[in-house]
Amino acid sequence: MNKIIGIIGAMDLEVEKLIEAMEQKEEITFGKRKFYKGKLEGTDVVLARCGVGKVNAALTVQMMVDKFGITDIINTGVAGSLNEKIDIGDIVLATNAVYHDMEAIAFGYERGQVPQMDVFEFPTSKELIDIAEEACKKVNPDVKVFKGRVASGDQFIADKETKNCIVKYFSPLCVEMEGAAMAHAAYVNNINCLIIRAISDKADDSAEMDYPTFEKKAAVHCAGMVREMMKHI
Ligand code: ADE
Repeated sequence: MNKIIGIIGAMDLEVEKLIEAMEQKEEITFGKRKFYKGKLEGTDVVLARCGVGKVNAALTVQMMVDKFGITDIINTGVAGSLNEKIDIGDIVLATNAVYHDMEAIAFGYERGQVPQMDVFEFPTSKELIDIAEEACKKVNPDVKVFKGRVASGDQFIADKETKNCIVKYFSPLCVEMEGAAMAHAAYVNNINCLIIRAISDKADDSAEMDYPTFEKKAAVHCAGMVREMMKHI
């Protein structure tokens, strides 16, 4: 089956770089969302910037499935580290994703569990993780890559107490605001998902200061990696 890869970036610079590199490019607008359809390194892709948060993330994936028939979704962006071994500049590839702000404990559900959902953690594609890891080694050889759980919620985490609470309940490597919603949408639609996150801050009291400094570098790393991945997909 011909693959059509949906790429959702969080950062303007990163999306701009990938759009620049696209061939046979078409700009298509549905509602208030702009999509770019074309080829990246010979692979069929649809690219969009989704905005912040879980709803923006999930609805953009769903639009890509419905309007463009994507077979895979790749999400790139930044995240706050929740593990002392993972530093600003390192990259996390999600092996699964959970919501840290989903809570229906009153009905007997475990914290994070979406009621009546048949999974607790949303899976990602092992095959895409392997391709991403290889691509990163090639284009960003100095960047360390970690694999593990990503936690998402509609909250920028910038204090130790909230950070520690997320670590205690979910043991993720990093925290961001979209990944689990995209993995959820991918799961429901039976398509493959990959979440790539470059660490921009430590999700603590210094997070607001570190975030803008690192964002540009993260965008360059992520764009380079996604471009390289398209040669091997
Ligand atoms: N994205 C980047 N840093 C983050 C943080 N500290 N919390 C949530 N999302 C983030």
